[in-house]
Amino acid sequence: MAKPKKRYVCQACGSVSHRWQGQCGDCAEWNTLTEDVPATVFSQKHDLSSGGRAVEFVDLDKPGEMPVRQKTGLAEFDRALGGGLVPGSAILMGGDPGIGKSTLLLQAAAKVAREGRGVVYVSGEEAAGQVRMRAARLGLSDAPVKLAAATGVRDILTTLHTMPQPSLLVIDSIQTMHSDTIEGAPGTVSQVRGCAFELIRYAKENGVALVLVGHVTKDGTIAGPRVLEHMVDVVMSFEGERSHQYRILRALKNRFGAVDEIGVFAMAGEGLEEVENPSMLFLSGREQPLAGSAVFPAVEGTRPVLVEIQALIVRLQSGATPRRAVVGWDNGRLAMLLAVLESRCGLNFSSAEVYLNVAGGYRLADPAADLAVAAALVSALADKPLPDRSVWLGEISLAGEIRPVAHAGLRLREAAKLGFDRGYGPAETGGNAPGITYAGLSQLANLVDRVIS
Ligand code: TYD
Ligand code: MG
Repeated sequence: MAKPKKRYVCQACGSVSHRWQGQCGDCAEWNTLTEDVPATVFSQKHDLSSGGRAVEFVDLDKPGEMPVRQKTGLAEFDRALGGGLVPGSAILMGGDPGIGKSTLLLQAAAKVAREGRGVVYVSGEEAAGQVRMRAARLGLSDAPVKLAAATGVRDILTTLHTMPQPSLLVIDSIQTMHSDTIEGAPGTVSQVRGCAFELIRYAKENGVALVLVGHVTKDGTIAGPRVLEHMVDVVMSFEGERSHQYRILRALKNRFGAVDEIGVFAMAGEGLEEVENPSMLFLSGREQPLAGSAVFPAVEGTRPVLVEIQALIVRLQSGATPRRAVVGWDNGRLAMLLAVLESRCGLNFSSAEVYLNVAGGYRLADPAADLAVAAALVSALADKPLPDRSVWLGEISLAGEIRPVAHAGLRLREAAKLGFDRGYGPAETGGNAPGITYAGLSQLANLVDRVIS
């Protein structure tokens, strides 16, 4: 190969010479010649600054078309999705095994199919017969869902291209899918990523709403590469304690809507039933007030949900290390509240076991639940029930102050609707509701005085 000739370019006038010299022969400037690295075939190929097509820019205010949502008819499912399925979007549905993902999707698929829209349900986990049996049990046998048991992405896409495009495609699950262009067994990172990529591309090109079921690992994340969550438009998680009846469908990511709406279902003999008024369901059968129980008006998206918080304190005689166990709330937050109660209110939990439970398998993350948890703890410690038909809301600071919370009015109105008539919360409240006698507490110590006196 011929040795490329060196080039020297004058930085002042741009003239080129093949020999370095102190003064430019054209413009007579001194010390302006520098060596120019010649373009090789390699660098031309890897220089991305030319050779491409021009990209079109649009303005942000250009009135684009909002995606038309298609309701599935399963109202709680639509609500969690932010209003329905968006054609050409990809949804990843995660959840523990046996929580009811396949049941939920079969029900949604049947609803859509009964409305006359095309639905394809591909099961990679169960044989067609098993899915048919489930459909019979759910009373959905007559729904015109196109059901197939397949795991080859090439087979699935080939078949889909020979038929009218469905409006909904369900793949149960992405971990069982296999692409013959990629090495490795189904479920490996490269297979999951590659199969998802092909299926999502099909969905986007054809305006099909795609639902991928994803397995969840022990620590609660969707198995396979994290990149799957980046590739899809919506990530949903189907949660609940398997021993409880209730299931919550939650969007963890949604490119087309808010992520704070939840859908609530109850698993019954005939599949998942929609629960329109979830407040009733998380309050365990409350006949007379019990020590250690407090009701917290939570807000999920735009919807208030009343949940019961239960605390149990067991005094230890021996010097053994006492246990702290929490279900449905944050462990660290409980430790913090106990510390605040000890140091600001003079209560002693150090020789007591503390158990905290959020009834009905519900999971709370709202800091506004602090006061209700503290009330349950103080009530359990004093062995005195809290005032009958009362709700508690407020965030607690390390100094023991009770802080304002968002949507106080909404929360209290929901409580009033369900027959509660007392509210306890921060002194400066965001609103009250008719029918509720509200008491503002500024310090955690006020709560302790109220419960113990
Ligand atoms: P499934 O949808 O198979 O769960 P996943 O796909 O998330 O693994 O649900 C299985 C569970 O649901 C199973 O334990 C039985 C229960 N179930 C009912 O209680 N009632 C029903 O009508 C159906 C179909 C399932
Ligand atoms: Mg399943």
